[in-house]
Amino acid sequence: MRGIVLAGGSGTRLRPATKALSKQLLPVYDKPMIYYPLSVLMLTGIRDVLIISTPDHLSLYQQLFETGAELGLNIEYAVQERPGGLAEAFLLGADFIGDENVCLVLGDNIFHGTDLGPLLRAEAEQVSGCTLFTYPVSDPTRYGIAELDRDGSLVRLAEKPISPSSNQAVTGLYLYTPDVVDHARALTPSARGELEITDLNNRYLGEGRARIVGLGPETVWLDTGTHDSLLAAGNVVQLLQHRNEPVACLEAIAWRMGFISTRQMVRLTRNYPEGSAVATYLAGLLAREPLGFEAFA
Ligand code: DAU
Repeated sequence: MRGIVLAGGSGTRLRPATKALSKQLLPVYDKPMIYYPLSVLMLTGIRDVLIISTPDHLSLYQQLFETGAELGLNIEYAVQERPGGLAEAFLLGADFIGDENVCLVLGDNIFHGTDLGPLLRAEAEQVSGCTLFTYPVSDPTRYGIAELDRDGSLVRLAEKPISPSSNQAVTGLYLYTPDVVDHARALTPSARGELEITDLNNRYLGEGRARIVGLGPETVWLDTGTHDSLLAAGNVVQLLQHRNEPVACLEAIAWRMGFISTRQMVRLTRNYPEGSAVATYLAGLLAREPLGFEAFA
């Protein structure tokens, strides 16, 4: 499976913080926002990643991750000239996707949960159309919403409905079969001139090929769309990490997933100042789990 992180957009709601900086590079507690969605792709077992961003900001992501080799990844980059909608990712990534399944994650979405990796890996094994992940929210007018019937089957998908008929938000994490590129090509731009992800997902729903997976209370899904929610997300990450539950520690995930060797992991720990929280955590992992991936599996 291939992975796309969509890290463009205009970030208008977070101005002036985003006036000279890409939204998905703003720090969420101790690391750039994009680390969080990238960690989700890695936990899904994905090593081939395409990062899409604006003409002004793409080079910043290239500086941050280079080829991705340090983390055992192959990272490619693509420009989105203007915010043409989330579904445009599949047009920009058509060659990258080829005939493989693909996972799209929005660059401003944060997921955390100890069971998340196994859940995503299991879902990635059985994609047949599109798979959407829902999460209950208190303000459904701000999200794509999934309406379910009594049996939990998906009935309708609506983007930011004025009168929502459900509180189940569709999170910014989507799995698709490779025909997503054809579906995206067939979309008509919305009134805003964007290719809407909800229109795309509705095409799969119309074909009876949309699957819904509810993320339970054991998963945290954090919003970073406003100054308040960004600060709150940082505080949640701080709390978890102070409880020794690291969030989106890419080096640790790469090692546990078997993307990098123990030797490479040891080298990566040297990127952090000795005695820092991350260096101490990584050294502790190495000390406790000398078998690496085998010990994690
Ligand atoms: O976060 C989940 C929600 O994300 C879903 O519930 C909605 O169905 C989905 O439409 C989306 O809603 P948002 O209002 O959060 O979308 P937004 O326009 O803010 O874009 C989400 C991210 O994608 C943001 O980091 C900017 C980036 N983006 C957005 C557009 C429109 C791009 O990189 N390119 C784009 O063209």
